[in-house]
Amino acid sequence: MRIAIIGSGHVGLVTGACLAEKGHEVLCTDSNEEKIKTLQSGKLPIYEPGLEELVRKNVAAKRLSFSTSTEEAVAFAVPLFICVGTPTLASGAPELYYVEKVAKDVAQLLTEYKLIVDKSTVPVMTGARVRETIERYSKGEVPFDVASCPEFLREGSAIQDTLHPDRIIIGADTDRARALLQEIFEPFGACAIVTDISSAELIKHASNSFLAMKISFINAVSRICDVTGADVEEVARGMGLDPRIGEAFLRAGIGYGGYCFPKDVLAFGHISEQLGINFPLLPATHEINREQLDFFVEKIKQEIWVLRGKTLGMWGLSFKPNTDDVRESPALRLAEKLISEGANVRAYDPAAGEIVKKTHPDIQVVGDKYEALDGADALVIATDWSEFAEADLAEVKKRLILPTIFDGRNLLDPEKVRKAGLTCHGVGRGRPK
Ligand code: UGA
Repeated sequence: MRIAIIGSGHVGLVTGACLAEKGHEVLCTDSNEEKIKTLQSGKLPIYEPGLEELVRKNVAAKRLSFSTSTEEAVAFAVPLFICVGTPTLASGAPELYYVEKVAKDVAQLLTEYKLIVDKSTVPVMTGARVRETIERYSKGEVPFDVASCPEFLREGSAIQDTLHPDRIIIGADTDRARALLQEIFEPFGACAIVTDISSAELIKHASNSFLAMKISFINAVSRICDVTGADVEEVARGMGLDPRIGEAFLRAGIGYGGYCFPKDVLAFGHISEQLGINFPLLPATHEINREQLDFFVEKIKQEIWVLRGKTLGMWGLSFKPNTDDVRESPALRLAEKLISEGANVRAYDPAAGEIVKKTHPDIQVVGDKYEALDGADALVIATDWSEFAEADLAEVKKRLILPTIFDGRNLLDPEKVRKAGLTCHGVGRGRPK
C-alpha cells in the first residue's frame, strides 16, 4: 500500500523505512529542507544502528522516497502518518503546534478520502482535536478518518523494535480506518489491539510513564540500600523474578533521560491535572529522577571531598548506549553539575562526543576512553556502553590519580574492580568493601 509519513525524525524515518521493508511504498516528508537533502543524498540525519542500510536498500528498491512537500504526501497516499515532534513547553504540557499544523495543512489539501494516523506521542483527546481541526479547515464535505497508532520503538534498537513489535495498537473508530490499519500492519505479524482513539493515546502515555516509574522506584530503593548497606542489584533481581513485577527497567543508576520519558511523564501529569485527576505518582516519578543526580554528586563529594580543582574522567555522554542522542541526558546533566561546582570534566563517548564538543565547550571531549583518564583524579561512568564494561581495569588504575571509580550505571562487577586494586562506588550498592 502507498503510505505517506509527515515528519521524518527518529520515529517517522524508522517507521517509513520499516513499512517499506515490509513491502509498502512509502513517501517520507519533512519541512526541514536540510534533512530531506541529506536523506536524498543517501545519508542519514540521525544515528540509529542498521537504519542507513535499511534506507539505502528500500530507496534502491524504489519503495522509499523523500520530499519536503506535504502537498505531495497528501496526493501520494490515503494513509498519512503524523510523526512530528511534541517537545515539552515550560508548563510541562507538550507543544502541539506541529500536530495542529499538519492537521490544518492536510485539511486544506483534502480532495478525496484520507486516513490521518497520529504516531506522535500526544495527550489523550488529541485525536478528537485533530478531527475538529480538519473539519474546521477543510473546504467541503470530503470524508476522512482520524486514528491513533502509537509507537513503542527504543532508540538504539529501533529497527528491531519496529520490525518485530511486541504489540501494535490501532485506535480507530470506523471500520474503514480499522481495515486500512490492519492491512498496513498485517505483515508485521504482531498481536494487534484494536481499540478506540483515546484508549490508544492513553496506552502510550501510560506505558512510558509506568516504565519511568519503575526506574524511579528502584532508584528510590537504591538510596535505602546506600544507607543500609544492602545491594540494589540483588533487590532488583529478587523483585524481578516475580513475573508480576518483571526484571526489565529495574536498573538503578543516575536516572532516566532522552527525548521521551522526561517529556511524557510531565505531559501525562499535565493532562491528568487538566482533567481534574490527582495522579501524584507522576510528579513523584519526575522528582525522584531529578534528585537522583544530586545524590550521586553527593556520593562523589563524600569520597573525594572538594570538587573545585579536581578532574573527573567521564565515560558516556549520551542518554543511553547505542545512540548519539544527548537530549535530557543524565550523563550530560551530571557533567554540567560537576563543572558548576568547579570540577574539570574529561569525557569520552563512543557516539556523542562530536555533538557535545559543539554544544558544551567547557567539557573536554577526547577520542578514547583511556585518554579521558589522563590527569583525572577519578573515573565516573555515566552511560552503560558495553565497551566500558569490557575496559582493561589495570589500564584504568595506571592512568587515574586516585584508584576510584564512581559507577553511575552499576556497569562494572565490584569484585573485579576490587581485585584490580580500585574502589568502586556504585548506585545502591552500599559502601565498597
Ligand atoms: C522509550 C521507551 O522505552 C520506548 O518504548 C518508547 O517508544 C520511546 O521511549 C518513545 O516514547 O519514543 P527510549 O527513550 O529510546 O525509549 O529509551 P529507553 O531504552 O526506554 O531508556 C530511557 C532511559 O531510561 C535511558 O536514560 C536509560 O538509561 C534509562 N533506564 C532504562 C534506566 O535508568 N534504568 C532502566 O532499568 C532502564
